[in-house]
Amino acid sequence: MGHYVPDRVLSNADFEKILDTNDEWIISRTGMKERRIAEADVRTSDLALAASQHAIAAAGIEASQIDCIVVATVTPDYLFPATACILGAKLGIAGKPAFDIEIACSGFIYSLVVAASLIRSGIYRRVLIVGAEKLSSVTNYTDRGTAILFGDGAGAAVLERSERDSLLACDLSADGTTPELLYIPAGGTVQPATPESIAAHGDKMFMRGREIFRVAVTKMAESAQIALGAANLTANDVTHLIPHQANRRIIDAAAKAIDLPADRLVVNIDRYGNTSAASIPIALSEAVADGRVKDGDVVLFCGFGGGLSWGSVVWRWAVT
Ligand code: ACO
Repeated sequence: MGHYVPDRVLSNADFEKILDTNDEWIISRTGMKERRIAEADVRTSDLALAASQHAIAAAGIEASQIDCIVVATVTPDYLFPATACILGAKLGIAGKPAFDIEIACSGFIYSLVVAASLIRSGIYRRVLIVGAEKLSSVTNYTDRGTAILFGDGAGAAVLERSERDSLLACDLSADGTTPELLYIPAGGTVQPATPESIAAHGDKMFMRGREIFRVAVTKMAESAQIALGAANLTANDVTHLIPHQANRRIIDAAAKAIDLPADRLVVNIDRYGNTSAASIPIALSEAVADGRVKDGDVVLFCGFGGGLSWGSVVWRWAVT
């Protein structure tokens, strides 16, 4: 595992200066205290590169030993080509297969399943998966309902074929009936990125937070139960729950519904806010680095985000 977050900190006190908000509201409603913001000239592929280099070093391999690159992001360098292709070039392994997974905050969970399946099928031996986001580039800093939530960062994992299969079970879901609950209105084929459509509809993230909140708690808990059931495990068998870091209240409510005690939760939302596809791998990377996640532990990943999309993975942490 590896992760990278930019140095620049945006605190709740900073928001008090530019928005009608306050530290007490933000902490009590979200659990967030600060987030990291990348400089203007930093691209998502740069964040992904730094996290990947840490992960590759931690795995004790050379970049050339990676067979495939998967990047989960909703803030790619360009609408296309895939940020994973650019990352491959920056890692010095241009030519290796590389593709993006664009499924918002569920991105790392989907990537884990895709990468594990590529390895299980025998197609590849080592897959680099990265959740990387520069959400500051699509955040509307005049909207207090969303501005306070998002930060930048990246987390990366090197998955390697092993005798011990780590993917114990998964549950993935998506429902695109109401994409506009959480989306960027202009820039796609519905509203191409003309000055007029950007002025009329906006090219920043828009979210109906209250509606998302309700669905998030229900779906994350449901999905976790399905995945645990498929693995023939119960909450008692879970060593760590690493949820997508969207809102402390969502995390606590989901953990309660899954029946997992607070001491098994991995939470860093206070320091980084919501980094979408990067949030789970950053949290996992920190928990591995400080020794909380150990060989043989059962880790439950749960995520929820734009799409709408959600899912869970039951994973046995195995160091090869
Ligand atoms: N400071 C002060 N007051 C605020 C702020 C703020 N930053 N933001 C909203 N308010 C006000 C609202 O205007 C409203 O005031 P009113 O009652 O006078 O109308 C009041 O606080 C309550 O607003 P709600 O939107 O109902 O607040 P809520 O408790 O739902 O919290 C939040 C808002 C934090 C956005 C929450 O709904 C949430 O976390 N939603 C889910 C987010 C999420 O999980 N997104 C998915 C992942 S993101 C991705 O995929 C990229």
